[in-house]
Amino acid sequence: MKKLLFVDCCIRGEVSRTKQLADAFLSALPGGYATERVDLGTADIFPLDRARYFAREKLLDEGKLGDPLFGYAKQLAAADIVLVAAPFWDMGIPARLKTYLENVSIAGITFSCDAEGNYEGLCRAERMILLTTRGMEIPDGSEMEQATPYLKAICKFFGIGGFETVSAWGMDTQPPAEAEKRLLLAAKNARELAMSL
Ligand SMILES: Cc1cc2nc3c(=O)[nH]c(=O)nc-3n(C[C@H](O)[C@H](O)[C@H](O)COP(=O)(O)O)c2cc1C
Repeated sequence: MKKLLFVDCCIRGEVSRTKQLADAFLSALPGGYATERVDLGTADIFPLDRARYFAREKLLDEGKLGDPLFGYAKQLAAADIVLVAAPFWDMGIPARLKTYLENVSIAGITFSCDAEGNYEGLCRAERMILLTTRGMEIPDGSEMEQATPYLKAICKFFGIGGFETVSAWGMDTQPPAEAEKRLLLAAKNARELAMSL
């Protein structure tokens, strides 16, 4: 059984358009995948403030990688496919997704780094798939679109083999009928991508 890790950053929950893409993808996923979901709308994760930073450094210095603090990192490292569903916020990813990535970025679990600064990714996933919707007229590849370049860099860092995006944009700026048409097309693309796995 392969492991699909679903990093669900659809913060608006049931009214989220991005969640519609995730639902379409997951409904078409072939057998042979066990799905684990992390709900970033509610998960108990926090950014590193001073106290959290030093507490985490202490655990790392003591080699305590078995601490529950590193559970999310181990889960990510063990996934075969990483599915991220996240709306486009402030020209990039929502802070909850950045916080998740900060929490899973752990030397010895998701990457390793030697004394010369050479790094190697330790994640086994063959790819990350980003499902996203954008309010403004910001197509894939636009210089205003900073979610994809950042997540691609994270994949390279963690050793995740490939990266693909399924997106719909203009959700808040196009007339409702056109926005709906684009969302339905993206849902179809998400289903087809899932079926190809
Ligand atoms: C806090 C917040 C920030 C946003 N920032 C942007 C932005 O920078 N650019 C953009 O095109 N849309 C932005 N949007 C609009 C969303 O990308 C758009 O409504 C998207 O479809 C929401 O996805 P959801 O329905 O899955 O929550 C923002 C929306 C919110 C709530």
